[in-house]
Amino acid sequence: MTRLTIKKPDDWHLHLRDGAMLEAVLPHSADFARAIIMPNLERPVVTTADAAAYRDRILAALPEGQAFTPLMTLYLTESTDPDDVEAGFRSGLITAVKLYPAGATTNSQNGVHDLERVYPVLERMAEIGLPLCVHGEVVDPEVDIFDREAVFIERVLEPLRRRIPDLKVVMEHVTTQDAVEYVQASERNLAATITVHHLMVNRNAMLAGGIRPHYYCLPIIKRERHRQALRVAATSGDQRFFLGTDSAPHTDGRKLSSCGCAGVFSAPLALPCLAHVFEECDALQKLEAFASLNGPIWYGLPSNDESVTLVRHDEPQAWPERIASADGPVTLFDPTVPLHWALETQAGGQPG
Ligand code: DOR
Ligand code: ZN
Repeated sequence: MTRLTIKKPDDWHLHLRDGAMLEAVLPHSADFARAIIMPNLERPVVTTADAAAYRDRILAALPEGQAFTPLMTLYLTESTDPDDVEAGFRSGLITAVKLYPAGATTNSQNGVHDLERVYPVLERMAEIGLPLCVHGEVVDPEVDIFDREAVFIERVLEPLRRRIPDLKVVMEHVTTQDAVEYVQASERNLAATITVHHLMVNRNAMLAGGIRPHYYCLPIIKRERHRQALRVAATSGDQRFFLGTDSAPHTDGRKLSSCGCAGVFSAPLALPCLAHVFEECDALQKLEAFASLNGPIWYGLPSNDESVTLVRHDEPQAWPERIASADGPVTLFDPTVPLHWALETQAGGQPG
């Protein structure tokens, strides 16, 4: 197959940041019609008013001609007001609430220390049908960083889901076979997003033959067995798995440091990478389900009317190594292999 036309994809997990970085990266999500926008700004998006203001800033930064709908989320804190969450949901502004265990990742320090304290919000969300997006890693320093997702399932997620079975939960950016199997075994109200980078590379890309900080992200990239499990899940057509790039730009200055930030900036080449993965798995016919259909089904939204066409070129396509922002350069995800797929509208494979 050398051409593939699918409904226009959505990105069910995206970091757009704010200010100069927002302006620099937003045009690079042009391949997507909608995206779930993560709320972990330096000053997090905690209230419905914060989310309305942030959505306005995103829409103001949209380049002319780029049709893009930001689906807003709230950052759950121990003082989140259930009434504000419900009002945001009922107004149509809020699509999900995000749980960051405090200390788990970038800008998570205002997240949740004690789940008991947010049960009133979670119970309200279950009542009204508002999904919870979860960063599924424990922060216990005793737990090895490569085990933090698996331990989260056992210690946090399973007890939470037993206590509030009506709560719709998305396990964000799953990285392990354990998480895939947990989602597959669930009877209802559980889904998972999978990133492009976790489908493309294993931890050797980050750590073998030199340390490559641009692959450092959270949850941390795991061993090959886990990548294979993610590939099987993503290409299976199972409606519980869908694309969330977790494209998370940081300037090179903040990545290439003795204590570098977690995050991979993958949005500009997410779809060509996905086509590569699905072709390798002999599953191109399942790409539309993963990128364009399963997410809307889960969130109860219509799929997009528009289509996009991916074309396989004989020659590898070229992408810039980095983009500029007023805060400094931002390096793109390096897929480690030549990519032959590009969006048809992107002459020469240049990112949108
Ligand atoms: O790698 C990551 N980067 N993982 C996260 O959970 C947060 C994100 C970010 O905001 O930079
Ligand atoms: Zn994220």
